[in-house]
Amino acid sequence: MRILVAGGAGFIGSVLVPHLLEAGHDVTVIDRFYFGPTLDAAKERFGERLRIFKDDIRTFDPRIVFQQVEAVIDLAGISNDPSCDLEAHLTESINIDGGKRLATLAREAGVRRYVYTSSCSVYGHGAGLGLTEASPRNPVSLYARAKCEVEDFAMALGRDSKGAFETVALRLATVFGVSPRMRFDLAVNVMTKNAYVNRKVSVEGGGKQWRPFVHVVDVARAMHLAATAEASKCAGRVFNVGSDENNVQIAHLAYRVRDAIPSTELVSVGTDPDLRDYNVKFDTIREGLDFHTTRTIDDGIQEVLAALRSGKVDPDDRRGYTLRQYVFLREAELTAQSLAIHGHILGTA
Ligand SMILES: NC(=O)c1ccc[n+]([C@@H]2O[C@H](COP(=O)([O-])OP(=O)(O)OC[C@H]3O[C@@H](n4cnc5c(N)ncnc54)[C@H](O)[C@@H]3O)[C@@H](O)[C@H]2O)c1
Repeated sequence: MRILVAGGAGFIGSVLVPHLLEAGHDVTVIDRFYFGPTLDAAKERFGERLRIFKDDIRTFDPRIVFQQVEAVIDLAGISNDPSCDLEAHLTESINIDGGKRLATLAREAGVRRYVYTSSCSVYGHGAGLGLTEASPRNPVSLYARAKCEVEDFAMALGRDSKGAFETVALRLATVFGVSPRMRFDLAVNVMTKNAYVNRKVSVEGGGKQWRPFVHVVDVARAMHLAATAEASKCAGRVFNVGSDENNVQIAHLAYRVRDAIPSTELVSVGTDPDLRDYNVKFDTIREGLDFHTTRTIDDGIQEVLAALRSGKVDPDDRRGYTLRQYVFLREAELTAQSLAIHGHILGTA
């Protein structure tokens, strides 16, 4: 099967794409490559089975990109709260309009299965413990509101198609682990990095807030299942992706990181309470898709630590910090606009 991964060069995508290729699928990627050339190794290894379009979900030509595609996994977009808050109109254009465009064009192109990547952050300030897919959503950020809107849009497209367009929404827990597009702005990864580099771990927002976590390889496994399982198991359904055991309070996560890295100091930062507080249940994906996670938070801490120690990941690379990279790209764009003559700054046409 050929699977299109939109946003396939990102943190999750650059792990998912080789995972799908190894499983025997052909893969098409569309991505702006805002975080660098993260698929070079996969391209080298899998050659023509991996088709790459450096293009934008808001403007690509569906006649080329959707060729032979049977399933789409949408990972594209601005991927955290502070980056989404930088410029609301850009977030709306990419995360909402772009997400809806991709789903609409996939359906028109005759794609059978559509997997939308949502987030457990749609639960926002969760009422109580053990939130399920049926619990009320209470998004507290533009990022999460956009997830709710596109989730609803894609699921409605599926319902209206009367079985022709099978839609699945995956609400991911906060992801951790190592990827070719490393992210040091996700809680497990950033705490491990700070403990390793500064011997300090900060606990913000009080520390009592619950958060579910999931390893990036387990996310890739869940996406593979959602894209290929029989329709009776997943079409029209929403799944939380993670595992009950990987729900932790932020202060407890900090204790675990401190315990893994000797002489690390815990620092409590007096910030406003973190509104994102959710403890989530994962029965639906376990029972519906027989999905079980394979990596614990402690595995992730050890993996990130080993990658830092070996130099496999660089904690100083700006591209590992989503907000910093988007601020940099925005400033670069504004600078180029103000200086360029006929598209050039130092050179000439
Ligand atoms: N990482 C997590 O903890 C987590 C948790 C829940 C949900 N998600 C969702 O999963 C998806 C992937 O997250 P990630 O961690 O891999 O983020 P990421 O930022 O690493 O990846 C997003 C990718 O989208 C690309 N992109 C951005 N705008 C684009 C556009 N207009 N056209 C084409 N490509 C574009 C970027 O270049 C990037 O490669 C996102 O939708 C995110 O909201 C992530």
